Amino acid sequence: MTQPSIGPRPTRPQELETGEEPIDASTLPEGYQARAMTLADVEAVHELEIRLFPEDAWPVDMFLAEICHPTRRYTVVECDGAVVAYAGMMAVAETGDVQTIAVAPRHEGRGIGRWLMNRLQRQAMRAGAETMMLEVRADNMRAHGLYASMGYASIHRRRGYYAGGHDAIIMSLELHGPHESITKETTDDHR
Ligand SMILES: CC(C)(COP(=O)(O)OP(=O)(O)OC[C@H]1O[C@@H](n2cnc3c(N)ncnc32)[C@H](O)[C@@H]1OP(=O)(O)O)[C@@H](O)C(=O)NCCC(=O)NCCS
Repeated sequence: MTQPSIGPRPTRPQELETGEEPIDASTLPEGYQARAMTLADVEAVHELEIRLFPEDAWPVDMFLAEICHPTRRYTVVECDGAVVAYAGMMAVAETGDVQTIAVAPRHEGRGIGRWLMNRLQRQAMRAGAETMMLEVRADNMRAHGLYASMGYASIHRRRGYYAGGHDAIIMSLELHGPHESITKETTDDHR
C-alpha cells in the first residue's frame, strides 16, 4: 500500500479526535474477534507482514509510528487468541487512504478482508472523508478483485512504484453517508 514517512515518534496512543468507530463483530465470520491495534500487537503484526509482503515489508518502526499517529486507525482480527489479520487507514480532510490490509493465508476467503475494508471506510467517513483511496500492486489479482467488488475504480497506474519495479494501480471510491458505503456487506447483508 502506501509508504508513509517516519517522523518523530508520537507519544500518545492511537486516538482520533472524532471518536472511535464501534466494532461490529456480528458481521465477522464465527470464531473471529476484532479490536483496535495496540503497541502490544506490533510484533505479531510484523511477523505476518514479513510473510505476506516479503519484498516490501514495513519495518517495525513503521507500525509503531503508524499506530501512534493521530490521523491513523489500525484494527487487528484475532482467532484463537492469535492475530490473523490487520488493516489501517489514514484520514486527512476529505480523503481516506487504505494504508495496509492483510489476512493470513489460512484465513483468506472468509470475508475478513471485506470486513476490514468496510471498517476502514466507516472510520474514514467518521473522520470526515468523502473519498477512499488505495494503492495495489498491478499483479495482485486477489486484492484487486476485492476492491473492484466493493466499487473501487482504477484511476491511475504508477509505474515502478513497488520494490522490484512493479507498478501500482491507484483506486478510489466515493464514500457515502455514515454507515452507507456501497459494499457487498450493506447490499447483500451477509457479512
Ligand atoms: C487481499 C486480501 C486482503 C483479501 O482478504 P480475504 O479475507 O481473503 O478477502 P475476502 O474473503 O473478504 O474477500 C474475498 C473477495 O476478494 C476477491 N477475491 C478473492 N480471491 C480472489 C481471487 N483469487 N481472484 C480475484 N478476486 C478474488 C473476491 O471479490 C472475493 O469476494 P467474494 O468471496 O465475495 O467473491 C488477502 O488475500 C491478503 O491479505 N493478501 C495478501 C496481502 C495483500 O495482498 N494485501 C493487499 C495489499 S494492496
